[in-house]
Parts: sequence; C-alpha cells; structure tokens
Amino acid sequence: MNTSIAAPLAYRVTPSDHARSAEQRAAILDGDLGFGTIFTDHMVSIEWDKSRGWHDAQVQAYGPLALDPAAAVLHYGQEIFEGVKAYRHADGSIWTFRPQANGARMQHSAARLALPQLPVDEFVESLRQLIAIDHAWVPSKPETSLYFRPFMIATEAFLGVRTAQAAAYHVIASPAGAYFANGVAPVSIRVSQDYARAAKGGTGAAKCGGNYAASLLPQQAARAHGCSQVLFLDPVEGKYLEELGGMNVFLVYADGRIVTPELSGSILEGVTRSSILQLARDRVMRVEERKVPIDEWKTGVASGEIPEAFACGTAAVVTPIGELKGRDFSVGDINAPAGEVTMSIRNELTDIQYGRIPDRHGWLVKLR
Ligand code: COI
Repeated sequence: MNTSIAAPLAYRVTPSDHARSAEQRAAILDGDLGFGTIFTDHMVSIEWDKSRGWHDAQVQAYGPLALDPAAAVLHYGQEIFEGVKAYRHADGSIWTFRPQANGARMQHSAARLALPQLPVDEFVESLRQLIAIDHAWVPSKPETSLYFRPFMIATEAFLGVRTAQAAAYHVIASPAGAYFANGVAPVSIRVSQDYARAAKGGTGAAKCGGNYAASLLPQQAARAHGCSQVLFLDPVEGKYLEELGGMNVFLVYADGRIVTPELSGSILEGVTRSSILQLARDRVMRVEERKVPIDEWKTGVASGEIPEAFACGTAAVVTPIGELKGRDFSVGDINAPAGEVTMSIRNELTDIQYGRIPDRHGWLVKLR
C-alpha cells in the first residue's frame, strides 16, 4: 500500500463563508457544552489513493461529506478513528496531550483495518492546521477542552469485498465538557451477560467504528438497567474484565495496588490508560496489568478490599465508578463520594493537561 509522502503535505486553506460570529461562538462556549454535539467552523480533509498516496490536504468549512453510495465504508465498515483533546492554559496558549501516541495508535488501527497509514507527523500537523483557523473554539471554562475527532474512511466505490484503493482522512473538532451527564459524579456499570465486545484476533485492539457499533445493544441494555456504561468480559470464558463500552477500567485496592486488565489483544490500548499507569508508577504504587476476574471485583467491593474503581479515556478522563451491577447482583454505592485515589489521579492528570503543574514526562505539545 502506498502510504508515502514525498514532503510534508501542503495545505490549501479555504475559510468558511458561514463561520459563526464571535458573539455567536461566545454564547455557545458560555453554555453547557456537554459532549460531542457542537462542532467548530472548519475541518481537515486529506485524500489517499493507491497510486498517489496521501494528497490534496485541505482545511475547509465543516460540512457534509460527498460520498459515492457504493463507498466501501458504507458497506463493509472500513473505518477507524481517534480522540484527542486541546486544552487552553491560563495564559491563553493551546496544548494537546500525547498526540504522537494517538497518531501511532491510528497507524495500528489502519494496519488492522487494511487502511493506509498516515505518518504520525502528519497526524499531529492536521491538529495544528485545524487549531490555526479554529483556535477561538477552544473553551476556557474549567475542565472544558476542544475534542478532536480524527477519522479515516474507505471511499472507493466498489462492492467487491477487498481492501479499498481510495480513502479519506478528516479531522473535526467539538468544544466539550464532561462526557457523562453528571460530570465527574460516580457512574454505575452493568456487566454484559450475553455479548462480548471483541474476540482475540478480531479488531478489539483497533479503534474502529465496528467495535463501537457492536457495543451499542449491550450499552442500551445497561442503560435500561439504570447504568451509564456496559462492562465487557473476555469473549472466551466470560470471566475476566476487558473494557467498558468506550473506555478502559481500573480497580484500586485497599492495600495500595492499582489494577487494570492486561492488553489481551482484544482491548484498546488507551492513551489515558497508559498515562495513568505511568502516574501510578511515579507514585510508587504497585501496578498490575493482568487478567482480572469479575468475581474478584464483586467480592472485593463487598469485602472492602476494592474500595475504588474508575473508567478512563480521552473523553471520560477519569470517572469514578460507584456501583457494579450484574444480572443477579449489585455492589457498591452510587451515592458514595468519589474515591480519594481516583480523584487524586484525575487531578494530577488534568493538572498536567491544563498546565497547572509541570509536565515532567514531556507529554504536552503546543499547538498555538
Ligand atoms: C475517547 O475517549 O476519545 C473515545 O474515543 C471514546 C468514545 C467512544 C467517546
């Protein structure tokens, strides 16, 4: 597959002729942002085809994509995406967090989904290009950010089942507050009984839309039982924790350990997950990445051995889990305050992201 680029891509920039006014934007950013419903005025688009490789990079008005109805993505789901945030610091500067890690993960996802790999430098540059024109959309209220959604789709019009010979990469951006409606308040989680998220050798370790499509029905069942997220168990024995519908999971033990499911080949390697592992190691906590039986969590909550658990991801940041429910059990207390370790890790991570404490690992990249 031709994924080469002769030189850094040159961007054509066409400002939107219907961009929101400064007043309209200020009113939007002043309101409740929620997650994923508001979009900035522009987007990045880069085309790829087998003979030319990556080409035709541009920043253009945010708007509908023109796709042939036979485009492969619409039939066989050849699609991958990422989630990255831009944070406004107190001095007005704009930074992003470990974008190279997201760019590298997108390359792994592309390889698995037989899509072309965008060079990591071009991935980071695409964020910079969007910020250059839409920087005023980076909110400044506490704990808000601009959520970038880079994604890649197979655009070739062909109904045979084979790797597409044409694809497009886009980045859209959304000013965002908390992912969960109640902010950082503890959420409840329901164990999926009948469905697995992904199998070994499948696409579970790739960030592709299909994994999330497969999570929607069990996620709906979790919601019907009053839970915010579904928890998937391993697809073979139905015994070990994998991940939640859209985020990784950590357990905090009373003896000071912090434990998360090992990368089994069917879970996503979260950038937030790996950052938390590093922060925990910096604190000289005992960190375990291993198989975690659901029974260990269940009995550990009841016995007090596991007083805290949390979900993590770019969108969710670090969100306490108050309650774990299954078909015939419920442990924890959704009304109990968020755990101390959970909140201290969340605060340390966000303090780094918002430039409130030194970035000792060199994770931040200045966008503007
Ligand atoms: C993210 O955390 O960025 C994600 O992609 C999860 C998504 C399902 C909201």
